[in-house]
Amino acid sequence: MAILIIGGAGYIGSHAVRYFSDKGRDVVVVDSLSTGHREAVDVPFYQLDIRDEKALEEVFLSHDIDGVIHFAANSLVGVSMVEPYEYYHNNVYGMMCLLNVMRRQGVKNLVFSSTAATYGEPIRELILEDDPTEPTNPYGETKLAMEKMMKWFARAYNMKYISLRYFNAAGAQPDGSLGEMHNPETHLIPLVLQVPAGQRDKISIFGDDYPTADGTCIRDYIHVCDLASAHLLALEYLEKGGESDVFNLGNGKGYSVKEVIETARKVTGHPIPAVVEARRPGDPAILVASSDKAKRELGWKPEHENLEEIISDAWRFYNK
Ligand code: UFG
Repeated sequence: MAILIIGGAGYIGSHAVRYFSDKGRDVVVVDSLSTGHREAVDVPFYQLDIRDEKALEEVFLSHDIDGVIHFAANSLVGVSMVEPYEYYHNNVYGMMCLLNVMRRQGVKNLVFSSTAATYGEPIRELILEDDPTEPTNPYGETKLAMEKMMKWFARAYNMKYISLRYFNAAGAQPDGSLGEMHNPETHLIPLVLQVPAGQRDKISIFGDDYPTADGTCIRDYIHVCDLASAHLLALEYLEKGGESDVFNLGNGKGYSVKEVIETARKVTGHPIPAVVEARRPGDPAILVASSDKAKRELGWKPEHENLEEIISDAWRFYNK
C-alpha cells in the first residue's frame, strides 16, 4: 500500500515526502516539475501534469495507492492577480482530474494543501475555520473552489478529505538538506535572505500604510517541518475513520514584514537594507491562524514555533 504525493518535488511536498518516508510509509511521487526539483525526491517518481488524466491513472494502476496528498498547484498571490486563467486551469481543473481518477480507482482518502488565502480579510484576530471565506485574489478563490469540489465529490462518491489551510510556510530541514527554492522567488523570507547571501542589494517592503502597528503586513509563519507532520496526522485521522474536515495550520502569532527583516538581521548579522514600495495587489493586511482545532482533533504539535529558529533554518539551507 502506497501513498501518492502529488507535488512531492516542491517546497512543502518534498518535506512531506521525507517525513512520510522517515515514518515508514511507502511513498510514490507525481510532479510536473514546472516548479519542483527532481533532486529533492528519492522515492518512485513520475513526471506528469495531473491534467493528463490518462497518465495519472497509469500511476494508480502501477501502484497500490490507498491515499493521496495533493500539493500540486500554482500558489503565488501576485501572479494569480494577472494570470487567473492559468490558476483556474491548473488548480481547479487539475483537482477535477485527480478526483475523477480517485473515484474511478476507488481511492477514498485525500489530504489537500489549502491556504489562509481562502479567508480574505479576517473578521477577528485569530482566524477560525468557520470564519467567512471571501478571498481577495484568484489564488485563494481557486483553492476555495477546490475545497468545495472535494466536499461534493466526497458526498457523492463516498470519499473523504482533510483540507489543511496553511498560513505562511517558511524554514527548511534543520540539517539544511531541503529548503525553499522558487524561481523566480517571491516569498518574503527567502528574498530577505538573498541580501546577506549577496544575491540582491536590498529588500522591498510592499506597503507601510496598512492598519497594523508598524504599517506593514502581518503574517503567521509556520515551519515547513511542522506542516509536513500535520499531513501524516491528517491522513491517519482519515484512516482511523475520521470524517472530512478543514483545519488551519499556523502558530497563532503574527509578525510584520519589518519584524521579519529585523529578525533576519539578527540571525545573519547583516544590516539588510530595506526600502518601502507600493502595496502588492491582493495582499490582506493581517493573516494569523487559530490552530486550536488541528491541535485538538489531529493531535498536531508544532515543534519549531520560534521565528528566529524558522529563519535560522532557512539561512542554513541558503548557506549550503
Ligand atoms: N513582501 C514584501 N516584500 C517582498 C515580498 C513579500 O514586503 O519582497 C510582503 C508581502 O507583501 C506580504 C508578506 O511579505 O505582506 C508575505 O509575503 P509572501 O509572498 O512571503 O507570502 P504571502 O502572504 O503573499 O503568501 C503566502 C503563500 C500563499 C498563501 C499565503 C497566505 O505564498 O500560498 O501566504 O497568507 F496563500
